[in-house]
Amino acid sequence: MIKLLTVIGARPQIIKSAAISRAIKNSFSDSVEEKILHTGQHYDANMSQVFFDELGIPQPDFNLGVGSGSHGEQTAKMISGIEQVLNSEHFDGVILYGDTNSTLAGAVAAAKMHIPVFHIEAGLRSYNMAMPEEQNRIVCDHLSSILFAPTQTAVDNLMKEGFNDSAATFANGKRRMVVKSGDVMYDNSMYFAPVAEKKSTVMKDNGLEPKRFILATIHRPVNTDSPERLTSIFRALLELDETVILPLHPRTAKLLSVNLDSGVYEEVMKSSRIKIIPPASFFDIIVLEKNAGIVITDSGGVQKESFFLGTPSIILRNETEWVEIIEHGAGILTDADNSRIISAYHALIDSEVHFPSLFGDAHSAEKILESILTYSA
Ligand code: UD1
Repeated sequence: MIKLLTVIGARPQIIKSAAISRAIKNSFSDSVEEKILHTGQHYDANMSQVFFDELGIPQPDFNLGVGSGSHGEQTAKMISGIEQVLNSEHFDGVILYGDTNSTLAGAVAAAKMHIPVFHIEAGLRSYNMAMPEEQNRIVCDHLSSILFAPTQTAVDNLMKEGFNDSAATFANGKRRMVVKSGDVMYDNSMYFAPVAEKKSTVMKDNGLEPKRFILATIHRPVNTDSPERLTSIFRALLELDETVILPLHPRTAKLLSVNLDSGVYEEVMKSSRIKIIPPASFFDIIVLEKNAGIVITDSGGVQKESFFLGTPSIILRNETEWVEIIEHGAGILTDADNSRIISAYHALIDSEVHFPSLFGDAHSAEKILESILTYSA
């Protein structure tokens, strides 16, 4: 029996962890014990607790309650809190997801204590070192014992960086491994989409017709913190002759009145087409992603789930980690440029878009757990 500590903290990590917890419960309960540590990076009920309730994730065994703060302050509190937990009982490894400050903190705390790090969503790169997420994922990849790459692109990125022939050896004498595992988010979308369709009332509550609306999400500091970029995005949303549903991240909600051009802000507030709602639950967001005609987003997760569910996306960034979505014509990068957003909308609406299977077989979690068990034997 091995004992693993799963570290989560931000909304998408809570969702991703559901796939591994479910696989442990259903298929690995004799061989794997999981304890969950929530750093408290996300703490509002609709950014955190709602996902535990909906997805049936066990409540965290530890909650550090670090809350918001500068990168240094937030990450430092997490490292110290995670270290205390790792000191308090024996763990055979730490599972980390993605690229948030919670991921970085988990990697630093565990690696320094010679506890193997298992990184799920390894190998993603935007090649934009200005992004905190790019910094976090690179550090975490280098400290990891097993790098679970979700796609072939992620494997190729790691090979280019020399991970395959690295001589690096960990305290237990083992070399690091790269495993192409598929994507746990795909596991979850396939598992929960039929349940969500039954349970969610978001379409009815907002008077939405399938394929007759746009789903928009905006949360990245590069967009929310720049008056020019935020205003340019909202000008495009106002110009498109379509209903827009916009579940708003708390940071964006706080900055809307501050950073939007005042004329645009007023137009948005009185528009009957732009419907601003609180951050959506997982069931609501997957129903919206599936039923939208187009998704406009700066989120990696929303972009990818939309692809899984057959909806094209417009990506409000200059680059993406999920290049295969762009290469297959199911997404277009527009940055925050309103004329590019509008032409991408017309290009996607008018074309027949394909969504090949690129993210595994919806059983990535089982594959990941088998690899961890083999490694730990
Ligand atoms: C974090 C991740 C980002 C991920 C996103 C998913 C980092 C560096 N970034 O960004 O990669 O895409 O989570 O959602 O880790 N806030 C609240 N309530 C909450 C949480 C946050 O009001 O429950 C507000 C606070 O004003 C806070 C701000 O949102 O300062 C940003 O939160 P933070 O956790 O720092 O980063 P995210 O933008 O959510």
